[in-house]
Amino acid sequence: MKAIVQDRYGGPEVLRLAERGEPTPGAGEVVVEVVATGVDAGTVHLLEGRPAPVRLAMPLKGERVLGMEVAGRVRAVGDDVTDLSAGDAVFGSARLGHGGLAEYAVVRRDRLARRPPGVTFGEAAALVVSGSAALKATQAARIAEGDRVLVLGAAGGVGHLAVQVAKAAGAMVVGACSRTKTDLVASVGADEVIDYTAEDPLRRGPFDAIIDTGGHRPLRALRRALTPRGALVLVGAEPEGAPMAGLGRAIVAAMLDPFARQRLVMLASTESVAALDTLAAHAAAGKLRPVIDAEYPLEAAAEAIARIGHGKGRGKVVVRVRPE
Ligand SMILES: NC(=O)c1ccc[n+]([C@@H]2O[C@H](COP(=O)([O-])OP(=O)(O)OC[C@H]3O[C@@H](n4cnc5c(N)ncnc54)[C@H](OP(=O)(O)O)[C@@H]3O)[C@@H](O)[C@H]2O)c1
Repeated sequence: MKAIVQDRYGGPEVLRLAERGEPTPGAGEVVVEVVATGVDAGTVHLLEGRPAPVRLAMPLKGERVLGMEVAGRVRAVGDDVTDLSAGDAVFGSARLGHGGLAEYAVVRRDRLARRPPGVTFGEAAALVVSGSAALKATQAARIAEGDRVLVLGAAGGVGHLAVQVAKAAGAMVVGACSRTKTDLVASVGADEVIDYTAEDPLRRGPFDAIIDTGGHRPLRALRRALTPRGALVLVGAEPEGAPMAGLGRAIVAAMLDPFARQRLVMLASTESVAALDTLAAHAAAGKLRPVIDAEYPLEAAAEAIARIGHGKGRGKVVVRVRPE
């Protein structure tokens, strides 16, 4: 099969097209004939080996294939997978090293769900990691009907989905993004859109919850913009040049949480079947639709990843491996 492989840490330039053997499924695994693969900030982190401890924890031995966000058709199942068969349309998160920047990917059964009706493979792929993070963030914020919720980074991969999931939960959503992306944030249903280059969105508080996926505002400023029992969910941040990326701030928040009246959550999202099924149900009901900013062919996967850059995404970028 054709695959985009990585054998050292670095930028998109380290990626190259290679021929590899088609994978076979192990116990509890499914091989997916990939139709589309989403790329997100996490793909950039794995490629670069960021934050720095990642390189120590995961030294690269040989080639690996990135691309966690996979949608396609079941090709083969492991012995103990009895509820899926060849040809079923699925989406899920690939095993590290056997990702969707290839014609076939390996996905654990407990990280895979059926693609919802009326949703393209490209859209389904775009939901896997970013959608799960958006869902887990709104769940962690415990959003109730009528809550005022601020989404920072509201035009990004996670952010534009978080706006929609929070709206589906009945929240009044304020989305913050840079000037050229305000149309996107309005189009996914935010009640108010703030260009953070012209106005500080935190001044529009107090908010019942803040979901932070972009920028790297200090904890103190974020907490001041919350109600006394509000929730701050730190999904991620891409501060320039910080070796620990946005992790340091999130760790401090998690340490402060037991002593604070507000809830301070460092999000660690996983792509469970339950999360994927919930995303599928929202999508099938027309409440959740990823915005696909751009599609690239497999051979141009490096360009797709470069487009995401460091936390500057607009909607989602998808790599198309096969036609729909
Ligand atoms: N914790 C978890 O489990 C988990 C899961 C998934 C992702 N993440 C992390 O979440 C972060 C976002 O991921 P993503 O895939 O959504 O990235 P993305 O697509 O690049 O989105 C980030 C967004 O933040 C915006 N932004 C940057 N600075 C901002 C600021 N000062 N104020 C408001 N918005 C700002 C960016 O564009 P503009 O500045 O142009 O508006 C961009 O739209 C990453 O750090 C990623 O690693 C964490």
